[in-house]
Amino acid sequence: MKTHDSLQIVSDKSPQTGEFSAKKIRETIIQLRRLVGKENVLTDKAELVCYSYDATCYSRLPDAVIFPDNSGEVSKIMRLANKKRIPVTPRGAGTSLSGGPVPANAGIVVVLARMNRILEFDEDNLTVTCEAGLALRDLNKFLRKKGFHFPIDPGSSEAATLGGMMGENASGMHSPKYGRTQDRVLSLDAVLPTGEIIQVGSRCFKCASGYNLKELFIGSEGTLGIVTKATLRVAPIPDNYVVVVASFKTAIEAGRAISKVVKKGVPISALEFMDKHAIDVVRSFTGLPLPHAAALLLIECLGSKNEVQSNLGKLVRIFRTEGSFEVKTSRNREEADQLWYARKATYGAISRIRPTAIQGDPVVPVSRLPEYLARLDSISKKYSVQIVSYGHAADGNLHPTVMVDERNPKEMSNARMALAEIYRSALKLGGTLTGEHGIGAEKHEYFNLEWSDKVIAVMKEIKAVLDPNNIMNPGKWI
Ligand code: LAC
Ligand code: ZN
Repeated sequence: MKTHDSLQIVSDKSPQTGEFSAKKIRETIIQLRRLVGKENVLTDKAELVCYSYDATCYSRLPDAVIFPDNSGEVSKIMRLANKKRIPVTPRGAGTSLSGGPVPANAGIVVVLARMNRILEFDEDNLTVTCEAGLALRDLNKFLRKKGFHFPIDPGSSEAATLGGMMGENASGMHSPKYGRTQDRVLSLDAVLPTGEIIQVGSRCFKCASGYNLKELFIGSEGTLGIVTKATLRVAPIPDNYVVVVASFKTAIEAGRAISKVVKKGVPISALEFMDKHAIDVVRSFTGLPLPHAAALLLIECLGSKNEVQSNLGKLVRIFRTEGSFEVKTSRNREEADQLWYARKATYGAISRIRPTAIQGDPVVPVSRLPEYLARLDSISKKYSVQIVSYGHAADGNLHPTVMVDERNPKEMSNARMALAEIYRSALKLGGTLTGEHGIGAEKHEYFNLEWSDKVIAVMKEIKAVLDPNNIMNPGKWI
């Protein structure tokens, strides 16, 4: 198998000019200031540091950070960077957890924070058109007043931007009901490295016209162009939902119960898994009375009171047969929301366990979850590292998180070996490396285990058509 180009990310925080000279950078910065105004270009080292890293262990200082105001400015920035062959890395809120927005080859980081306008709300067609720098939280604040929401809810929904969500094809807890970002973006505008702006997809709910270029940009991690605008499909806010908490004495039993719920086709809107480590740390972090269990499942049913009642009955029967020792149901919306708060707090809470959390998001076929959970347990023992697991169980998408201390080389080397096995095991079970955080820098070295040489070659050809000078987020997986 062909080996992938080596990752050029370095962890020291000194400026790296690489293939492009300091003189070229200085000239470019002068031109960038002319394009968007001096106040919208950062070059001070102290300010650049803020855009050099994310929640992974990777970082690299960019040469400049720029805040465009509109697609026209993005287009001019791209044309300039392309002419000068300077890397461009787009950035939303930096919450991908995969190193995606870390500028591996330095150059210019383009932050879309100023492009946060809501352009049109079309209530008759259930769509909203907005700029890519808009934060999901702010979009939902606007939509909620009208009785709607954009229902993709990543763990980082308080910070994530729509552009970042498109870049990573984010999803979250409610994907069993609402799907992934790709299912809810109808059309988008992308600025290509040439500065040309293309609109792909359609505002209609169906479009079978030609190649699906919209999907090409979703999950492309800023390697093809910069998405500046999108039309999204919104959903009415449900008025009745109930969350069931099922506790288990082993993670494997919980895994079997998940598989059964999916197989029986019980209509659920969310099904989340938390292992003992996650439950315990979230309990102490939030003060919420989570059960004492080796694993728990949080399952949401929504719809009319009768529908919910009937589906709850089916779920309770499955959980009892699969060995759950306690099944509790939220009594009101406040209790249900508290449980979701507990689940969403998990990533933040686990940082209490150890200083460094290296998180994965592999996916396996749901029926293989019990095997995968057993495998995670043996990997943890084999490498003497704690692995906290939680995640979007109905999708077979887990977040095994290796807890270590970055300052301890032995622990880091064990963690890297454990991660390699975590990914290899998912692939062996017929899974995929990433369900929602993207490859970024974190999974770069496993990319060619998932895809054949030919598939990677096709991806590289597509990349070369759209970005022939390889200026878009270079030094990553493509
Ligand atoms: C979550 C993020 C980490 O599910 O994806 O909490
Ligand atoms: Zn997640």
